[in-house]
Amino acid sequence: MKKRVYLHPVPVRIWHWVNAISFIILILTGLQIRFIGKTEWISFHTAVKIHSVFGFILLANYLLWFCYYFFTGKFFKIYIPPFWKPVDWISGMIRQALYYGYGIMVGKKNPHHPSPEHKFNPLQQVAYLMIMMVCIPLQILTGLVLWDPVKFAWLGKLLGGLQVVSLIHTGLWVFYGFFIFVHIYLSTLGHTPLAHIIAMITGYEEEEEEH
Ligand code: HEM
Repeated sequence: MKKRVYLHPVPVRIWHWVNAISFIILILTGLQIRFIGKTEWISFHTAVKIHSVFGFILLANYLLWFCYYFFTGKFFKIYIPPFWKPVDWISGMIRQALYYGYGIMVGKKNPHHPSPEHKFNPLQQVAYLMIMMVCIPLQILTGLVLWDPVKFAWLGKLLGGLQVVSLIHTGLWVFYGFFIFVHIYLSTLGHTPLAHIIAMITGYEEEEEEH
């Protein structure tokens, strides 16, 4: 028997898809900006304009995510791994990694059963926490400095100078390329290949009923 679990409320779904579209556009236009002269599928100036617009959309959208998770108090329940129970935490991550690396191929069941309060498995928790609290904020802050190095000179100095800022901004961009690839692959590992993706559209995930 399957039961339907409401995992992704409306603000999270809006955030997620605006974020995903913005990321793809930012990566593509970022490539054009970085490899000026080597590729020209749109002009450099158009790429910069589109990149800036979607950079600000990403910033506003990040604030939506931040306000939703912090004002509802859900951030701590959903995103913070149980560091204070290191044995449970580490064994949970190993169990999940063994499932992805081996169990799934021999038909074992996913050890994690998502619920609205515990929707991420231990590996997702660490990955999403890093993305949302370290990578995206750093990407936005370094993006602001590169967008207007004069207005945000103070921020550039704080982050270690323009060269460091540029290195962080482009370095993270390489990392996201990798993240999106793994993230999309993992999001096809539900009970059907589209189950998790449909859940991120409708809000509801189908779960095997526990007996
Ligand atoms: C077309 C591209 C994408 C697809 C198909 C996709 C798919 C999904 C799905 C199905 C989920 C539900 C939970 C899960 O199974 O992990 C999810 C959650 C999530 N995704 Fe994506 N995603 C995409 C792009 C991105 C990008 C670009 C980012 C950030 C850089 C991202 C960050 C996240 C985060 C942080 C969550 C957890 C959201 C929450 O419930 O609070 N995703 N994604």
